[in-house]
Amino acid sequence: MQAVTLKKEVTVMAKWDYTQDIDYDSIDIVKVRDNHFLFYLLTIASFIEITSETYAQNLSDYYSDNPEALQWINEVWQNEEVQHGKALRAYILHVWPEFPWEKVYDRFLELYLPLCNTGSFQPTRGLEMLARMIVETGTSTMYRAFESYAKSFDEPVLAGLVHYIYKDEVNHYSYFDRYFKHYNQSEELGRKEILKVIAQRLKDASSEDIEMGYQSIYEQEHEGRFELSAYEAFKKELNGLAKQHYPYSMAIKMTMQPLNLNKAVEVTIAPIILGAMKVLGI
Ligand SMILES: [Fe+2]
Ligand SMILES: [Fe+2]
Repeated sequence: MQAVTLKKEVTVMAKWDYTQDIDYDSIDIVKVRDNHFLFYLLTIASFIEITSETYAQNLSDYYSDNPEALQWINEVWQNEEVQHGKALRAYILHVWPEFPWEKVYDRFLELYLPLCNTGSFQPTRGLEMLARMIVETGTSTMYRAFESYAKSFDEPVLAGLVHYIYKDEVNHYSYFDRYFKHYNQSEELGRKEILKVIAQRLKDASSEDIEMGYQSIYEQEHEGRFELSAYEAFKKELNGLAKQHYPYSMAIKMTMQPLNLNKAVEVTIAPIILGAMKVLGI
């Protein structure tokens, strides 16, 4: 197996700063304010991103014997994920200033934290890096879809903002890939083990965080009531967005990369992964 040399130093400064690089005053509010679906989408994403802080500590504990990975997780990855949430929150509060973001976020945490097991990791460090690659595949492709969606109604500030986030997510993927390869030199994981983690993480992608985010916002708008049928309708709309804007080929490429397959096998497996993504509502 080819040796992988890890970078000695990692970039500790965020490449962009949401307080300086996003011109919130230039938002074309008229183009977005009545888009209720977008409001939900952005708010749910902001909740999930800001909550990254909750997982980062457990993750850095898991890699405490790897100073380089540790530094990157604590000083780059975590800060960037939280910045994504803060940047989205700032956008939301510019367009919908009456929305009590903090209050609804507290409700989201109340619903979601008991369901999320922040301490459960894959059995090996390599497999955990692989699981992270699949998560970053999900976020990279989702922001790619957001960007395409934002361009469809021509709101340039949002398109620019989600493009920044998209680039970070792809970069996260490449770091986790680098660390995965590093651990795989000694773990020598088989395709079966790799596929198992991929399948498991793809399944997890259709999980409770989006639903709890939706519920907390819906309750705020409906005096504490929640209706599952409203969430089902939201998911339908989400599928419609995916059909038009989701970059399936990019998702398949990123998902298959750790399997290190030859071209012929890739061609066979790609439709299976695509089918699984569609069944899981990705
Ligand atoms: Fe993020
Ligand atoms: Fe990320």
